[in-house]
This record gives sequence, C-alpha cells and structure tokens, in this order.
Amino acid sequence: MNEYCIKYGLAEERLPQHVAIIMDGNGRWAKKRLWNRLVGHRAGADAVDTITTLCREIGIKYLTLYAFSTENWNRPESEVTGLMELFKEFLVAKKHLLIEKNIRLNIIGEKNKFSPELLKLMNDTIAETEKYDPQMTLTLALSYGSRQEITQAVRKIAQKVAAHEITPESIDEKLISESLYTFNMPDPDLVIRTSGEYRISNYLLWQIAYSEFYFTDTLWPDFKKDEFIKAVKDYAGRERRFGKTGDQVKK
Ligand code: FPP
Repeated sequence: MNEYCIKYGLAEERLPQHVAIIMDGNGRWAKKRLWNRLVGHRAGADAVDTITTLCREIGIKYLTLYAFSTENWNRPESEVTGLMELFKEFLVAKKHLLIEKNIRLNIIGEKNKFSPELLKLMNDTIAETEKYDPQMTLTLALSYGSRQEITQAVRKIAQKVAAHEITPESIDEKLISESLYTFNMPDPDLVIRTSGEYRISNYLLWQIAYSEFYFTDTLWPDFKKDEFIKAVKDYAGRERRFGKTGDQVKK
C-alpha cells in the first residue's frame, strides 16, 4: 500500500493512470495583485513542481501539462520571450530532481519551433531522464495544438499509403493513435481545467474521447495539493461506462 495514498485517504486501485491538466489562470492571478503576467507564470511553475511531486508520491503514472499552445505564439512578444526563458529555467533547475525521483520527461508539440538552445536542453533532459527505469512520465505540451497533431498524423499516414507501405483499408484507430505525439502513453483518464473556464482549447482532442472532466474556479498558481486530491477523489467516485450501460459495467 502506498503510504501517500493512505496519508491522503486515496483508494490506490481507483487512481487515474493518466491525468492531463489545462493550467489556466496565471495571468488573472497576477492581475489581481497588480503584477506583471510573467509573475503569474512563475507562480504557475511552482504549482507545476508541487503537482508533479504529488503525482509521483501517490503513484500516478502519467501527468500531461498544457504549458504552451500553438496559439500562444500570438501573445505579446515580451510574454512569449518570458515564457521561453521560464521553460529553460525550469528544465535546468528540475533536471536533477526528475532524475532523482525517476520521472521521465516527455515533450509533445512542434519542437522545431523552439530555439536551438531550448531544443537541446529539452532533448538532453529527455535523454537523461529516460535512462533509469522511470516510475512516472511528465509530459509537457509545448507549442502543442491537437488539430496540428492530427494533421501531421494524417500526413504521415497518407505518405505511407502513397509509398504503398500500407493500404487505405488497413488504417484503423490503433494506427491513428500510434501516429500522434502521444503514441507511447495511454489516453488520459482525467482532464482537469483550472480558472473557471469550460473549454478544451485544442488539447488532446483524439485522446480524451472517454476521459472524465474536472473543472475548478481555482487559478492555476493557487492549485495546491489539497485541490488535486479533491479532483482525484471526485474521479474515483465516478462510474466510467465507455458507452455501456451501468448494469453492464457492474458485471
Ligand atoms: C495559461 O494561463 C497559462 C499559460 C499559457 C502558460 C502555462 C505556463 C505555466 C503554468 C508556467 C510554466 C510551466 C512550466 C512547465 C515550467 P493564462 O496566462 O492564459 O492566464 P489568464 O487566462 O488568466 O490570462
């Protein structure tokens, strides 16, 4: 029995295997305090740290965080530059912690959009953290957009058909899943969005077909351990049917 599950009153067998989070509200958190938006993003990075550590403790295997969308490139230049700097700092500061805690880093999104320096840092951290029998995968969705991801998957599959490697008839859901950035992880069981917004914002559209959702008004920098535990307990109390009836699921 996991000691942290006991501490937080969690039923280990009902934990989600994969939690995906839309971390929203950094800007509003800063604005309420009359601070620059970047201060909000920095506070958001602290929350990333807290929630990642908690997930590792209680035994969640996959945590996927929406940190920068394809649309976020359109934000003011100063904010984009500040966020890129923050991602760099985060990777430098947390690399050893990730290795120490056996957490593998994974990045999904258009990696070629990042500066060579950031790209190298990402690739080095990914390589370093996958060496030692990882117990958990932390995926950062960076320059990520689900429509873009699906588009590149369709292109890859079309190229295979054009090269006569596969036939159109052999295209199935498995092949599509395997052509997405998330090919090596299970679909999210639970999707959390903070800050009182009820949108999916182009996040993991294919992968969330049967996910459970949890929305909270809490702004991301204020999203602490107790709130995450609350979300996981809420999830644990739900009945997942995957299109079946309640009676069928109970059998
Ligand atoms: C959305 O809030 C948040 C982002 C676009 C950036 C997310 C970044 C972080 C949580 C910080 C750093 C992350 C890592 C992985 C180090 P918003 O800015 O849209 O907030 P608003 O809707 O209140 O303006």
